[in-house]
Amino acid sequence: VPSGAAAAGPASATARPERRDPLAFDPDDHTTLTATVVTGDGEKTVTYRFHRAVPYVAEPVDLTHQTLNVSVPVAVDGKPVGAGRAPILLSNAVGGYLPSSTAGATGISTNRPNPPLALAAGCVVVEPGARGRTLVDADGTHHGVAPAAVVDLKAAVRYLRHNEGRIPGNTDRIVATGVGAGGALTALLGATGDSPRYEPHLRALGAADASDAVFAAAPYCPITDLEHADMAYEWNWGGNPLPGGAQADQALSRELRARFAEYQASLRLSGGNGFGRLTARNYDTYLVRTHLEPSATRYLTALADDERERYLAANPWIHWTGGRASFTWADFLAHVGARKKNVPSFDALDLSTPENNLFGHGTTGARHFTLWSLRRATGDNRARLDADLHDTLDLMNPMPSLARGNPHRARHWFIRVGTKDTDTSLTVVGNLAAALEHLGDDVDASMYWDGGHGVNLDAPDFIDWIDRVCR
Ligand code: DHB
Repeated sequence: VPSGAAAAGPASATARPERRDPLAFDPDDHTTLTATVVTGDGEKTVTYRFHRAVPYVAEPVDLTHQTLNVSVPVAVDGKPVGAGRAPILLSNAVGGYLPSSTAGATGISTNRPNPPLALAAGCVVVEPGARGRTLVDADGTHHGVAPAAVVDLKAAVRYLRHNEGRIPGNTDRIVATGVGAGGALTALLGATGDSPRYEPHLRALGAADASDAVFAAAPYCPITDLEHADMAYEWNWGGNPLPGGAQADQALSRELRARFAEYQASLRLSGGNGFGRLTARNYDTYLVRTHLEPSATRYLTALADDERERYLAANPWIHWTGGRASFTWADFLAHVGARKKNVPSFDALDLSTPENNLFGHGTTGARHFTLWSLRRATGDNRARLDADLHDTLDLMNPMPSLARGNPHRARHWFIRVGTKDTDTSLTVVGNLAAALEHLGDDVDASMYWDGGHGVNLDAPDFIDWIDRVCR
């Protein structure tokens, strides 16, 4: 027996697999499930492979949250489907910037319409978890605060690209989506693809060394541009009553509203279609003409004649002529009614909001993240926020990346918000869409008439959109 062979046999059988790729996806580790999905053209029975709780970083700090589920369709109504080059819907379940886990799921999530509809349409659906603001280590360190969630989702994208060919689906056709805070994170995935600013955070987790750019992004009611959201909120909803009927502090409201003008001017965005520069003075007209009237028109057009008559009789402030709705901003605001949040809405003076917690740091559970609230709250005329916040705010805001024209951003955007969503200002979606249009990207932005926070009223259209842009 040649000594080399004798040595190699037992050694290779017992050797630790040193060079095993810890981020290699195992295609065989799955269960086969069926789901019944109600689609635009009837009920469909989908057979799919479900891969559960797959860690997406090599050095996870939290295996409850840093895993993803993959659902791969194999047959629809008994007919085999080949998902090998299908688009990949990356649907995050983050709400309220809270921790989000999909590790305990027993199948694709069905509490929102997009994942099952995408599966039934032949897409691979990936549902990642992510750390969130309330997580605290045993030693009191807040490890899910900003930018943890966006770093985690980027790591999940890198994991998919790293496993191209092992995970079915086309990694050049990743479509990110999410709602609320998850919509904000979706906008970040779309706007900040391959930004080197996240690199140290990704490296610390052992994220795959691959691109984290996504092809398309579909944020629903994104709660984003947080450091400017208090000003924008007062510009939009400042005069609306609080839920009990009382007015928010109008002196504070007016101060913030005045500052919105400076911020809006600094963005140097235009409203498209000859509208010119968007300012605090003309933004109401922009929203009415570009988003709100078309939204009401779509809604009213889709109603049966008698339903439309009833709606118009109950809402005489809407003028309906030639199949088009028109109205004033003031009447629209009165129609929406109560504002959901007090002033200031995001950087609360008593540090009580989800966002104060989001911008916690180390053993500090909540911080101010605007100079305006910091000075108001503390009476301290400090010149700057905590030193780390400058970078953290940038990592959490898609607008600066778009202003820099990040060449690795998503070029296809599907953006939705309800017209009665007072969780943030309608200018947040307005500015996101305007910034993307300014860059020449493909933007399908529209508002759901009378829709509240978190609604999704055209999921089949979204699925058609995925099919169209991913061709
Ligand atoms: C969400 C809603 C909010 O009002 C907020 O401040 C943050 C997040 C959400 O729906 O995720």
